[in-house]
Amino acid sequence: MPFGDVLYLDCAARAPMLRGVHAAARLALEANAAPWTQSFDALEAQVEAVRALAAGLLDGDAEAVAPVPSAAFALSTAARNLPLAAGEAVLLLEGQFPSNLLPWQQRCAETGARIAAVRRAPGQGWTNAVLAALDAEPRVRVVALPQVRWDDGALLDLDRIAPRVHAAGAALVLDLSQSLGALPAGIARWQPDFVASVGYKWLLGPRGLSWLWAASRWREAGVAIEQHWSARDAGDGWRFPVEAPPPPRRGARRFDAGGLDEPLPLAMAAAGLEQVLAWGVPDIATALGKCTRALDDALDAHGLSAWKTPGHAPHLTALRPPAERLDAVFDALRRERIICTRRHGLLRIAPHLHVTPEDMSRVAAVAARAA
Ligand SMILES: Cc1ncc(COP(=O)(O)O)c(C=O)c1O
Repeated sequence: MPFGDVLYLDCAARAPMLRGVHAAARLALEANAAPWTQSFDALEAQVEAVRALAAGLLDGDAEAVAPVPSAAFALSTAARNLPLAAGEAVLLLEGQFPSNLLPWQQRCAETGARIAAVRRAPGQGWTNAVLAALDAEPRVRVVALPQVRWDDGALLDLDRIAPRVHAAGAALVLDLSQSLGALPAGIARWQPDFVASVGYKWLLGPRGLSWLWAASRWREAGVAIEQHWSARDAGDGWRFPVEAPPPPRRGARRFDAGGLDEPLPLAMAAAGLEQVLAWGVPDIATALGKCTRALDDALDAHGLSAWKTPGHAPHLTALRPPAERLDAVFDALRRERIICTRRHGLLRIAPHLHVTPEDMSRVAAVAARAA
């Protein structure tokens, strides 16, 4: 446990900063003190290098990837571009993260379309609930989903959902903020229109640098929500005539957001992404799966099986104590310096590789004492 006596289980909120990310940040800060040493070409090369690293966790195609400031920015770009008309519906999960709700609410208000919220029947998993909602809703035009729920780690089977979305003639938009870097992304199988992910959780990078992935048709015809020069191909002379703007840059660069060509966050993002790629996402998922399984097993052993989250992802789960014990359990964990998020009646547990299965057995033991 490398954080003194703290057991940090809140990586779904924000990853702890790796030593490598910290070192990269210090170097970038020092370089920033001498801006004359930084050429425009070097900065552009740095943006391209980080774009390629992010693509390495998606489908490997750097042409499909753009840096943006937030997941909401990426999802607002998707909402701005996807066709939607009065009477049509956007399908999403009840309680999904607001960055993948607000852009659709806004677009529905503009177009007269409506949100069709997927709700679960008792005992039903989210995958089956989505498939049932697709059957029940004939006019779905956009399906906007996560791979893993942000609040309790419940996993959606996108291999089952994506073909049904396409068969319904709807666009697929994915917010992978709670899975990219911790679970393999099947972009080629899922064929989404747009994908969003923050960089500061499972990608181990800084806040303020997120990622947008766009399918090839949107790289050719998509419109950015911000008019920034960095997304325009102004040629060697870098001229912006008054009569008409220069054409968008190649590929998903037409969606590149302004202000992100900054060495400090780029260096931090690169260090985080390189480490994730070096560890390998399948190995990260396997190791974190051992941790959350150890937690589930220990809950069973303490007679607290009802506190488990069924069908959770390997890296993310939640304790579900009875409402009247929630605060007592959370306080007991805090006293033991075990850090997690308490929200909506759940205690969200999100380890990374600094956590061992033995640590998770201790979490269950502390929780059981407060049960
Ligand atoms: C699923 C999900 N999407 C997005 C975000 C953050 O989005 P944004 O970058 O828009 O703040 C979070 C943060 O917790 C999240 O859990």
